[in-house]
Amino acid sequence: MRRRDFLTKVGLAGGAGALYTTMDALGLVASPTNAPAAWAAETRAWQPPSASDFGLRGHGGRRRVLVLGAGIAGLVTAYELGKAGYRVTLVEARERPGGRNWTVRGGTVETELGGSPQRARFSDGQYLNAGPARLAQHMVTVDYCRELGVPIEVFTNANEDAYYYQEEVGGLSGQRIRHRTAKADVYGYVSELLAKSTDQGALDGRLTAEDRDRLIAFLRNFGAIGARRAGDPAGSYAYTGGSRRGYTLDPGAGTQEGDVLGPPFSLTDVLQSQVGNYFSFEFSYDQAMLMFQPVGGMDQIPYALARAVQRQGGQILYGTPVSEIVNTPDGVEVTVGEQRGWRPRVLRGDYAVCTVPPQVLKNVTSNFSAPVREALAYAVPNSVGKIALEYRRRFWEEDEKLIGGITNTNMDLSTIWYPSYGYLGERGTIVGYYNFGANAVAYGDLPPEGRLARAVAQGKKIHGDSYERELASSFSVAWQKIRYSEGGWVSWPSRTSGHYDRLLAPDGNVWFAGDHLSYYIAWQAGAIESARKVVRELHARAVNG
Ligand code: ALA
Repeated sequence: MRRRDFLTKVGLAGGAGALYTTMDALGLVASPTNAPAAWAAETRAWQPPSASDFGLRGHGGRRRVLVLGAGIAGLVTAYELGKAGYRVTLVEARERPGGRNWTVRGGTVETELGGSPQRARFSDGQYLNAGPARLAQHMVTVDYCRELGVPIEVFTNANEDAYYYQEEVGGLSGQRIRHRTAKADVYGYVSELLAKSTDQGALDGRLTAEDRDRLIAFLRNFGAIGARRAGDPAGSYAYTGGSRRGYTLDPGAGTQEGDVLGPPFSLTDVLQSQVGNYFSFEFSYDQAMLMFQPVGGMDQIPYALARAVQRQGGQILYGTPVSEIVNTPDGVEVTVGEQRGWRPRVLRGDYAVCTVPPQVLKNVTSNFSAPVREALAYAVPNSVGKIALEYRRRFWEEDEKLIGGITNTNMDLSTIWYPSYGYLGERGTIVGYYNFGANAVAYGDLPPEGRLARAVAQGKKIHGDSYERELASSFSVAWQKIRYSEGGWVSWPSRTSGHYDRLLAPDGNVWFAGDHLSYYIAWQAGAIESARKVVRELHARAVNG
């Protein structure tokens, strides 16, 4: 029988799972480590497992799977397995689904490790996406929004009218500069320099005469620079500013031509400010506009997934931390409880999928192999901080004509985010800092009042007194101190040391999933892709018997 006919017959008899298993045995399935492109194509064309994959094996689809952690990876694992009829129990330490996908609204209370309870007092409709806050269009997360009926709206990841604010960078220190102004000057000067050197022959070895002219024509357009001046190489192609920088008086009726904001900053000031170093953010695959967010808060995704799991008959146990995980010869035993006065009890499954972050899981008692334990300890958790500042009035919109987007600074707050919902409304909630590493530690080490005072003192430099005067409430998160997360995300010092690979394979009857086991760390898409990979592997084993 030709190989293709054989596969078709297996597929007809056993369904996709059996086909997959057979292909795998024949070495026809691309492995994620040796063929990333094929794997990506494969994950996009996702075929959920189906009860029919078990063919004549009968009750295989009633196998019990314990899923540890109801973050995005755990929810997607449970949901996709539920499509094939697995009996799924999702075990979650928190009282809510989502994990780091956490939307803080009025009434939310959280006590950080070593801290006191912090209560959010936001008005109705105001919220903070404390964890993930943006989705790229190509991400699989958007497919789940479609499938689950979660409406999305544009997230303004960039705005020409947002600011740069830099300290101790020479002549532009302490000035708030609009993104459009910075871009006009950086593009203008770079174009001028390249046009001049091209014109003066510096690139003759690289360019034909025609290409030299085409390049200069492009640069004149790209940088809005002047023309060539015969006999004046130094004065040719000069950047002298223009309306791309903005206006001090906008164009208006009749004779009001408008007053262009100028002159441009000096070349040396622009270079010294390093403001151009921020621009590449907009070029990156995962951050380029348009970006999106679910309407009403990022947690609409986990709540929709949790409802779907429950509709399938899956069980979700909230407030149920895991204290021990034991591989047995024919399954897994997971000890849970010890919260709300419950006595510990043991859950049994044929398999488990563990999505607990490595830095938390390494402290859970288990009989995992030594290499697995070493791999868990190898992942490095990252400190990440965010603060929400709710304002009584949207002064950034009303007074500064700045509607959405992100301001970048070299201050310890790093970035300020303007809300991408409720435009032109009365109240609005800004993210007053979103920072990583040492800056996140510096803020996170302060109590919430201290974080607020520091964030407002810094933000006032950009937005003036309104930043303090109009403040209504705030809530801050230091992810390294959030129980059950203990970090915003992890880094792998190396992906080729063997540690990362060790967690890509199951340990006995336990698989591991999460964004940390993907090339989309710190994105929900990574958690989803990882969950799908594990679902596929677990299903292949279940179908094989
Ligand atoms: N994915 C995270 C972000 O967009 C890191 O900020």
